[in-house]
Amino acid sequence: MKTNLCYDGCDLVELALKYGTPLYVFSKSMIEGRCSEIREQFIKRYGGSHAYYAGKAFLTLAMCQIVEKEGLGLDVVSGGELHLALKAHFPPERIIFHGNNKTRQEIEIAVDQDVGRIAVDWEGEIDIIDKAAGLKGKRASILLRVTPEVEALTHKYIRTGHRGSKFGIPLERIPYVVKKSLSLQNLNLMGFHFHLGSQIEDYRPYIEAVDVITKVMSDLRDDFGFVTKELDIGGGFGVEGFEKTTSKPISYFVDPVMERIKARCSEFELPMPSVAIEPGRWIVSEAGITLYTIGSIKKIPGSVTYVSVDGGMSDNPRPALYDAKYYAEVANKMGRPKDKVITVVGRCCESGDILIEDLAVPSDLKPGDILAVFNTGAYNYSMASNYNMLPKPAVVFVDKGKDILVVERETYDDLLAKQKFIFNV
Ligand code: LLP
Repeated sequence: MKTNLCYDGCDLVELALKYGTPLYVFSKSMIEGRCSEIREQFIKRYGGSHAYYAGKAFLTLAMCQIVEKEGLGLDVVSGGELHLALKAHFPPERIIFHGNNKTRQEIEIAVDQDVGRIAVDWEGEIDIIDKAAGLKGKRASILLRVTPEVEALTHKYIRTGHRGSKFGIPLERIPYVVKKSLSLQNLNLMGFHFHLGSQIEDYRPYIEAVDVITKVMSDLRDDFGFVTKELDIGGGFGVEGFEKTTSKPISYFVDPVMERIKARCSEFELPMPSVAIEPGRWIVSEAGITLYTIGSIKKIPGSVTYVSVDGGMSDNPRPALYDAKYYAEVANKMGRPKDKVITVVGRCCESGDILIEDLAVPSDLKPGDILAVFNTGAYNYSMASNYNMLPKPAVVFVDKGKDILVVERETYDDLLAKQKFIFNV
C-alpha cells in the first residue's frame, strides 16, 4: 500500500525525487481558491472595493501572473518588487506602492510607470512625489498611511499600527499633511491607509482602527472640506493551518469591518469610501509546503532527539525570528503510528536553527525520509537567504496532478555570480 503524502493531485515524495530538496511546493488551485473567495466574498459583495495581494509574502513572475488573472491588484514595497511586477506585465494601474523609505529613484519609476497608488509613509515623501510627477507632467494618486495607534495582538516584530511604530504618519500630523497634499499641484489625494500588523487572528483591532480613522475623516471634512474617497485597511489577516485546522474565511475579517465603516460613515454623514484590503499571508501561506530530506538523527541521552533536514533557517527564518510554530509529516510514511518525539533542526551553523520542537513521527524514521512542513507559503521563499552559502530551493506549483517548475534551484555558481577576485588567478 502506498503511504505517500499527496498534494493537489501530486505525490510529494515523487516531487522530492524529481526536483531535489529542499523544495517549495505551492498548490496553484489553493491560491486561486483564495483569490476567488476574495472576489466572491469581498469585491463582489461590497461595491467599489479592491484587493491588493501583498507581494512581500511570496512573489515570483508566475505568482504575479496568477494574481493578475484572478483580477486582484498588487501591493509592492520596493523597486525590486515593482520591477518584477512590470516584467510580469502586471497592469501598473492595479499596483499600490508601499514602503517607509522609498528612494527618489523608486518614486520616479513608480510615477513614470503610472502605478495606481502610492501610499505615503512620511511627510517628506509628498514633496518628492509631487516633484517627480511635475517633471513628468503627471498627477500621482496617493493615499496617506496613518498610524492609528491600535495594538494588535501579534508578535512585536510584526506589529505596525501602534503609537511609536516606524510605519505611517502620526495621527496629530495628519491635518497638516492633508492640507499640504491638497496644496500641491501634481498630487491627487484619494484617502487613507492603515496596516495594523501581520498574523492578526481577530477582526476587532480593525474595528478599533476604523473608529479612529473615520473620526479623522469626519474632522478633515469639517475642517478642510476634504472628502475621503478611498480607505485601505491593509492586510494582516492571520492563518491557522497548524496540524488539521484551517484558516478563517475572509468574511470573518471583512464583514464586521465593512459593517462598522458603513455605520460610522452614516453616523458622521460621510459618503462611504471605496475600501481596499491587502492580504498576503492569507492568500499563500497554507498553499505552501516545504519538502526536506532527513539527514542526521542524533539522540542525546536524557535529552531530545535532533533530526536534521537539508534546509533550515536559510529557507524558513520564521521560527528563529518570530518563534513561529510549524507542523510536519513524514511524507513517505503516512498513516503509521507516531510513537517518537523529535526536534527538527536545520543545517545552518546556528543553535537557533530549530524548525519544529516536539514533533511526533513514526519510530522507524530514517535518513533519506522526506519531511513535509506545512503552511510555509508566506514569508519563507521571500525571506530566504544564502546563509552558509546554501543555494535557495526551487519553487514548484502543483495543480490537479500536474507539476510546474516556476523558480529553478540556485546553483553554487549562482552564489558567486556577482563576486570578483582582487588578485589575478
Ligand atoms: N500591507 C502592508 C502595508 C504590509 O506592510 C503588509 C505586511 C501587508 C499588507 C501584508 O500582510 P499579511 O496579510 O501578509 O499579514 N515577515 C513577517 C511578516 C511581515 C509583514 C510585513 N508587512 C512574517 O514572516 O510573519
